[in-house]
Amino acid sequence: MDNTDMKQIQWFPGHMAKTRRLIAANLKLVDAVAEIVDARAPLSSRNPEMDFMTKNKPRLLILNKCDLADEKATQSWINYFKNNGTETVAVDCKSGKGLKNILPAVKNKVLAELMVKREQSGMSGAAVRLMVVGIPNVGKSTVINRLSGAKHAKAEDRPGVTRTKQWVKLDKSTELLDMPGVLWPKFEDQDAAVRLAFTGAISDDILDIETLAAKLLSFLAVGYPNSLKERYKVVPEADMSGFELLESVGKKRGMMISGGEINTERAAITVIDEFRSGKLGRITLEMPQKRD
Ligand code: G4P
Repeated sequence: MDNTDMKQIQWFPGHMAKTRRLIAANLKLVDAVAEIVDARAPLSSRNPEMDFMTKNKPRLLILNKCDLADEKATQSWINYFKNNGTETVAVDCKSGKGLKNILPAVKNKVLAELMVKREQSGMSGAAVRLMVVGIPNVGKSTVINRLSGAKHAKAEDRPGVTRTKQWVKLDKSTELLDMPGVLWPKFEDQDAAVRLAFTGAISDDILDIETLAAKLLSFLAVGYPNSLKERYKVVPEADMSGFELLESVGKKRGMMISGGEINTERAAITVIDEFRSGKLGRITLEMPQKRD
């Protein structure tokens, strides 16, 4: 992808340092970390320092929003992460699918050794404590609310707003720690930033909306041409640029401005909105590279 026209994502160094400190200080209080990512872009939606920050804490990876992701791709990602030694579950907070697998995966897989040790030392009643982390918009609050069955305050940490960490008791034997620090996404990797802009996880003004939609259409033309045929009656040809695809979408949808020109801005907003709401079908934006 040519991303020379992209603006840098803004994140504050002071904010990042504070989040690092918060995570480091609170890791001692938990048995494991549950890291939530977006199933449509499982690598791009990870915090780049998560592996380093959580060091040797046992970890569960939660692929959320799997209702919006390509089912086969999600299975490939689960295999990929498991092959790399990370226990992984796919969930969909819209229908609730997979949510019931989270705690058994933590207790029977991620913390299997600890649970045996506790059993042997007569401590099996001790609560399991789990830190929940994720970059903004992956659905961290939604997952916590669905697991606890209650509506908790969203873990926001804006300048000037002090928010303390929040323990959420799920039952007698499980507590979640919802971290207040806002984790930053990957910004060195511009392709990852574009994927996150497609999903709405980072502000879409890193690129103008038409460029963003054109990039998404170029990707779909190769990876999911049927979604363009079905939704917009646009049949992508091999040499079509993203902007030409955008014009085709606008034309097919009758989005014209005076003088017979195509309203590509309206078309772009439509494409991005329809992708985000799943109207273009179940789409995964990146695939595991080495093994699946
Ligand atoms: P965060 O704490 O990680 O920042 O994310 P949050 O839970 O606020 O979720 C961000 C958006 O993602 C919300 O939509 C939420 O409804 C949606 N979401 C969370 N989990 C899933 C899922 O599994 N599938 C789908 N399709 N969407 C999910 P929103 O438009 O920001 O708000 P609203 O429509 O819920 O009001």
